[in-house]
Amino acid sequence: MKKKIKLFDPYVGAKEKKYVLTALQSHNWASGAGSDFVRQFESKFCKYIGAKNCVSVNSGTAALHLALLASDVSGKEVIVPSLTFVSTAHAALYNNGKVVFADIDPNTLCMDPDSVKKKITKNTKVILPVHFAGMSADMKSLQNLAKESNSLLIDDAAHAAGAKFDGKKIGSLGDMSCFSFHPVKNLAMPTGGLVAVNHTNHKKMRQVLLSGRWCGITDRKEANYDIKTMGWNFYMNEFSAAIGLAQLSVLDKLNKKRMSVAAKFHKMINLERKMPLNNNCSYHFYWILVKNRDQFRKKLTSAGIETGIHYKPVHKMSMYANGVKLPITEQTSQQIVTLPTHPNLTEDDVDIIVNSVNNLV
Ligand SMILES: Cc1ncc(COP(=O)(O)O)c(C=O)c1O
Repeated sequence: MKKKIKLFDPYVGAKEKKYVLTALQSHNWASGAGSDFVRQFESKFCKYIGAKNCVSVNSGTAALHLALLASDVSGKEVIVPSLTFVSTAHAALYNNGKVVFADIDPNTLCMDPDSVKKKITKNTKVILPVHFAGMSADMKSLQNLAKESNSLLIDDAAHAAGAKFDGKKIGSLGDMSCFSFHPVKNLAMPTGGLVAVNHTNHKKMRQVLLSGRWCGITDRKEANYDIKTMGWNFYMNEFSAAIGLAQLSVLDKLNKKRMSVAAKFHKMINLERKMPLNNNCSYHFYWILVKNRDQFRKKLTSAGIETGIHYKPVHKMSMYANGVKLPITEQTSQQIVTLPTHPNLTEDDVDIIVNSVNNLV
């Protein structure tokens, strides 16, 4: 039977197995207040990215939801790209904010600061870029726009664990940064996420995040606590954190492997429009732009290569369709195909992908 090359595939090492067993045998599998592995993971990841504060949660979606809760976006505008997973936009609506879509830079496919600038109004509260495929958005220009417009810069770092901008880790630059540790991500867990906070009010924001992730519970002393505001059941469990801690210890190594795959794609694939090469990128996946996409993907599938489409743009979803025109997003989303970069790929797999793509273009 022909080998199937998967689009995503999490790395599983000896440490992951050992820590999961430790969590299992501890009989302490979850705590709303956070306990052993969860606390260790939070503090080690926080140190790794160089953030002021970190609060773990149970998904990237929850991280975005709570980050915008801590930003008071009710009735305010949140500027997001449309070429993203829908959670980026949902986060604004969960908090009664208004979604405003900006277009992307055709080179990086991250939100274009020039487009953002045109979308800023008196009512803008948050600028929310996505580091698409692990390539950092232009954080310097976005930081300036956020400052000028008195908005917060909150980055969706779901693809960007271990990525950098200007030599600084993603997670240390935004007022808040939201990570996903979904099994397909560079740092994989069964389910998990985290909000990194760097805003000057980080201590106050941390309290909002902590009570938000556990049903609004606040001022807890033993069995006594108060509820002052709404909260959810968003806390991370011990098994996720145990796997995450093991994954964190090899994240740089795994990202290096992804980088070497991306470098080969960049050098060998005979297409003009493809993801650029950048040492700061975490290469969550590698994108190319092709014509006749359906045919192209079908042929790769029959060669045993799984590919993806990231993404159908959010502004084309029925719930979000409002007539806004985003020419670069629309054109890109018709042609984009995503290729695997995960650390379980062999040299042979990479060669098969390169050859199969080149035979079709
Ligand atoms: C860009 C982006 N934002 C947010 C999310 C949501 O993360 P999660 O699946 O952990 O809720 C994802 C994950 O799919 C994502 O790719």
